Amino acid sequence: MGVWSAGIGIHYRAIAAEDEEAQVYRHFLSAQPSSQLANLLAGVEPILALAPMQDVTDLGFWKLMTGYGGADLYFTEYFRVHPDSILDPEILKSITANPTGRPAIAQLIGNHIPSLVRSARELQKHPVAAIDLNLGCPVPVVYRKNAGGGLLRDVAQIDLILGALRDAIDTKFTVKTRLGFDDPGVFEELLGVYARHSLDLLTVHGRTVAERYRSTVHYDYIARAVEVMPCPVLANGNVVSASKAQSVLEQTAARGLMIGRGAIRNPWLFEQIRQRGRGEVPFEPRGRDVLAYIQALYEIRYRPEFRESSHVQQMKKYMNYIGLGVESSGRFLHEIRRVNTRDDFFRLCNEFLDHSEPMPLEPFGIQLKETDFMCGEHG
Ligand SMILES: Cc1cc2nc3c(=O)[nH]c(=O)nc-3n(C[C@H](O)[C@H](O)[C@H](O)COP(=O)(O)O)c2cc1C
Repeated sequence: MGVWSAGIGIHYRAIAAEDEEAQVYRHFLSAQPSSQLANLLAGVEPILALAPMQDVTDLGFWKLMTGYGGADLYFTEYFRVHPDSILDPEILKSITANPTGRPAIAQLIGNHIPSLVRSARELQKHPVAAIDLNLGCPVPVVYRKNAGGGLLRDVAQIDLILGALRDAIDTKFTVKTRLGFDDPGVFEELLGVYARHSLDLLTVHGRTVAERYRSTVHYDYIARAVEVMPCPVLANGNVVSASKAQSVLEQTAARGLMIGRGAIRNPWLFEQIRQRGRGEVPFEPRGRDVLAYIQALYEIRYRPEFRESSHVQQMKKYMNYIGLGVESSGRFLHEIRRVNTRDDFFRLCNEFLDHSEPMPLEPFGIQLKETDFMCGEHG
């Protein structure tokens, strides 16, 4: 080899080494949760997010969802923030041990600015893709303290909070809002405030706080948010099937969907939406698939220190949603609410679900009471 070609060889090796280093660095950057989120936001497919749901969407539930195809994006249950608060270690675990391989957004609820700023700073020491502020919780004990949905009565205070948080947050900053407290007339003003604070993502649950969880969802307001917001918008509320997902995306032109109760009832929902988007026939679970899902839920909820009856009680919360897709008369739901032992619980589940018939893709129109939404303390 002549001097010239040897020189080229060294040069190439140097470039190759540089490339390798750059590649490793690029890989490192792209594995960062905020880069993962940036990639998602920059993509073209609708973003499918699992909604934050207190006492439901913990690490175990995220992991279970992932096994069924899973969401593209996960929001933690909210961290309560006040002057004496510390980051709830159980919720923090979903971030530090995030089993989904997808970005996780940490949600805060509160109104005390120095505490919100402190919590946002602490959370940024962990692998969070973004910090989210809850502006929608309709639970009286929360909104009466002017937190969550209660803040929607005080747009000036929201403005101050968003300003302080935007300054404190180096990573991405997102908000989850309802349309207003009891009048969606305030929504336009709210959008003006959200637009001023350079949010990276806005999720809109298309109801007022007063409408809680059961009213129709006002998708026209979500469409308005999509029109005026400079950031991407996720549509939230009653997305219960792949065909509903498609119609909500069409009605709102939202960048994606946030799905809560629909995913508890049907963990295949995210994958079914993707399948439908690709023009494929969505997966149709059979009775035994739903039975296996209930068994898996029972396992992840199991704690040896729980009494059997409290464990069964806990399962009933999930059954309020799962039961909406089991049969149309309401008998399953009626009976499952009355069992107290594990044996009775599974005897009833087996009676209705130990079969290979296809399960409905849409829930039946059985009406739940507001108290059945397991939102007595949450949401
Ligand atoms: C049990 C439960 C707990 C909830 N907890 C939260 C929460 O911690 N933070 C939040 O922003 N919303 C919470 N929500 C509201 C959901 O994130 C979502 O906005 C609402 O359920 C509407 O979406 P869906 O129709 O897809 O369920 C909760 C809802 C339920 C049912």
